[in-house]
Amino acid sequence: MTLKLGVNIDHIATLRQARQVPYPDPVDAAAVCLSTGADYIVVHLRKDQRHIQEKDVALLCKNFPGKIHLECSCALQMEKAALKYKPFSVCIVPEEPGEVTTTGGLKFTPETAKRLAQMIEHLHKKHILVSLFVSPTAQDIRFAAKLGADIVELCTRDYSEAKSAKQAQKLVQDLALATLLANELGLEVHAGHGLDYHNVLAVADIGGMTCMNIGFSIITRSIFAGLPTAVSEMKGLL
Ligand code: PXP
Repeated sequence: MTLKLGVNIDHIATLRQARQVPYPDPVDAAAVCLSTGADYIVVHLRKDQRHIQEKDVALLCKNFPGKIHLECSCALQMEKAALKYKPFSVCIVPEEPGEVTTTGGLKFTPETAKRLAQMIEHLHKKHILVSLFVSPTAQDIRFAAKLGADIVELCTRDYSEAKSAKQAQKLVQDLALATLLANELGLEVHAGHGLDYHNVLAVADIGGMTCMNIGFSIITRSIFAGLPTAVSEMKGLL
């Protein structure tokens, strides 16, 4: 079965924001990605809007219905934006001020669990699928299922930063076991963070995964190879 590919285009907006001009336009980038192998477009609306702006989310959802996967925190302001623009799906991620990128899966404390359950319920009422970004542990997968998520996105950061082949192999095993459990609990499974043209195969080979969400490696490859080639090469690997 061919895995789906979600292309994260945050860094197209990072380039645009560097000059505060209208280009490169994430809407143009989304059109190119979708016509060259992407199944979904992923954007992270951060509180500081340092790359993707709320108006980008509005335009992307309007132009590509059923194709936009929005990443955001569980802050009320983000829930409001998601309910307004109605992406196909929302992945709730932890967000720390000043972080360079998302640092890991959600931490399920009683307070966050309450808030997540509430946000999931509100998104479901608008028929938006909900994914939770989690560490590949049995405890967190069970928690996500209990909260009513549709999807878990397994964090591949540790795997992508593995210091040895042996460590990477052990982390792939953890991802495989997490996928098995998530599937048993009725959850769809995605994976993302730090995946590139070399390390994606071991994760893509795990049975039961349905989608890889990949940004940085594709956008940086596009500088040299062009966006259509960068996307189609990645899709080819899946
Ligand atoms: N999935 C999630 C939940 C993320 O936060 C990110 C980074 O924004 C990605 C996937 C994509 O990670 P990368 O840019 O390293 O491919």
